[in-house]
Amino acid sequence: MTKPLIYISRKIPKEIIVPYETKFEFRMWEKENEPVPRRVLIQELKEVDGLLCLLTEKVDKDLLEAAPQLKIIANMAVGYDNITIDSANDRGVVVTNTPDVLTETTADLTFTLMLATARRIVEAADYIRSDRWEHWSPYLLAGSDIHHKTIGIVGMGRIGEAVARRAKGFGMSVLYHNRSRKIEAEKELQAKYTSFDQLLKEADFVVSMVPLTDSTRKIFNREAFGKMKSSAIFINASRGGTVDEDDLLEALQTKEIKAAGLDVYTEEPIRGDHPLMNLTNAVCFPHIGSASIETRTAMLQLCLENLAGYFYGDGPKTPV
Ligand code: DGY
Repeated sequence: MTKPLIYISRKIPKEIIVPYETKFEFRMWEKENEPVPRRVLIQELKEVDGLLCLLTEKVDKDLLEAAPQLKIIANMAVGYDNITIDSANDRGVVVTNTPDVLTETTADLTFTLMLATARRIVEAADYIRSDRWEHWSPYLLAGSDIHHKTIGIVGMGRIGEAVARRAKGFGMSVLYHNRSRKIEAEKELQAKYTSFDQLLKEADFVVSMVPLTDSTRKIFNREAFGKMKSSAIFINASRGGTVDEDDLLEALQTKEIKAAGLDVYTEEPIRGDHPLMNLTNAVCFPHIGSASIETRTAMLQLCLENLAGYFYGDGPKTPV
């Protein structure tokens, strides 16, 4: 049997691929920090059997039509809103993602965003670096407490639950809103299910952990920010599309809410001159939720296991 041809849309470490070289023929985009241009991808996909791609690749109907032999897409992310799933289904192309392996790392980063935003960590680091520290003062760079406050998690999937476990360790009360009740989490973490509106009204930290779908697009909008406490801190570590960024900007500028910690944006990469970047009450990270070396390696390995499972085993481990 000829080996299936796999295209990898970004340069990844050779040692991750080596164990699979007896099974597959690989082609790879040779740049680590730059996405493959779409016209190159379309050209490359002509003969491939499998695609290992990132969330920077928009895999839509047109792209799929350019890949007549494509059988499987292994997406290196738990979210897969970059792929038009209906079009993949129509063509019988299997899609896999990378759940579980990134849960704890992404929850760590979400909690880092909460801490950094509430305790003004970025401002504090800038303060000392720019040599503005003259005296210790009672309210110098004083932020908000996290311990014993109320966290409201919107989207109680695996990562939401991992965030809730961390919150529990900080003595926080946990509210959550989700499509369905999570009875185990309610028992284990004393998490309380509430309506979306109730959560917005009661939480000190409103944390978006929902995947981006038609029903979650821009759910954090002017109306939602208007329902939050003026002391509330909004955290987004899921997808930028869940937020109306103009409304968020206004809510932060007018102090309708206290602050926001963001890892994701409507358009990525967001530019340094975006008005959100000029606010001292916004802490912004460049989509690094799962960015530890261990987790990014595990995500790539899971993509390759999915491809091997599909072509040589009992099927992929984590189809969506
Ligand atoms: C995901 O997996 O969906 C993240 O956003 C990237 O780690």
